[in-house]
Amino acid sequence: MKETNTLVEYGAVIDPNQMVVPPDVTELDLEPGHPGLGDKEYVARRKELFALCRKHRLERLGPPIVNYTPEETRIWREVSPKLEELHRKHACAMYNRAKHDLAITQTEIPQLRTISERLERETNMHLVPAEGALPYRTFYEYIAERGFPVTQFIRHGSHPEFTPEPDMIHDCLGHVPPLMNQDYAELLTLIGKAAATTPHGDQVLALKRFSWFSIEFGLIEDHGQTKVFGAGILSSTGEIPHSLFSKDATRRPFVTETVINTDYDPSKMQKDFFIASSLPFLRRELEALVRRFNIPVL
Ligand SMILES: [Fe+2]
Repeated sequence: MKETNTLVEYGAVIDPNQMVVPPDVTELDLEPGHPGLGDKEYVARRKELFALCRKHRLERLGPPIVNYTPEETRIWREVSPKLEELHRKHACAMYNRAKHDLAITQTEIPQLRTISERLERETNMHLVPAEGALPYRTFYEYIAERGFPVTQFIRHGSHPEFTPEPDMIHDCLGHVPPLMNQDYAELLTLIGKAAATTPHGDQVLALKRFSWFSIEFGLIEDHGQTKVFGAGILSSTGEIPHSLFSKDATRRPFVTETVINTDYDPSKMQKDFFIASSLPFLRRELEALVRRFNIPVL
């Protein structure tokens, strides 16, 4: 990071303390412009799942079994085949293999409890039920303990291809499959340990950006081709072609110093993409960064 006390995130100056002392959101809060606002039935369902998942998270009960409604299943059945087709063409091989091994189908919304048990056997990772997007530091405190927080609600049916917040389609079809891969699991947990340990807001922000441009919106070289492995791309029918082919986006090799100094806007289609040469490369880069920051987690 540059030597400065001013931290800028999403284009605005932020309090570095905000990065290390996370706020706790105790009630469902749909942002202005959310497609579900004004739909009483949707809001009631979201509140119900918010309370259920929050209880299971705080009491460490694991993912609850959820009885999905016909409308939720309809949305899953509409979105997942479109993503599946794009994944076959553009996702990295590691992702496609893992999705297949987890037997995530296009017809039924999977139960995260079952997937969590499978992950535990494969890579010693597990899923933590989350009532919504958790503050970054809280999120990575779970990851440091090999738990991946996942939502269990589904986006609003009026815009099945769009969600302003991470929902189950984003989590389950983006983040969850790569957790089957040992290299990915180790990369993720090291980011988690480092972010949960450092007392410095600027270092948390740097790790957040490292994670954003890899785990969330990363591209990767795969058998001589550029493929997708970031969850934010993999769970969006718009972002997959945009990330690989759009003239409005840049694609550069992943250089850590550049990445940790690059701001982004999570509310828009992304304009900067970085291509990692491999997962072991990202692991080496992360270890070097953690050493440079003197975070005692290696
Ligand atoms: Fe995500």
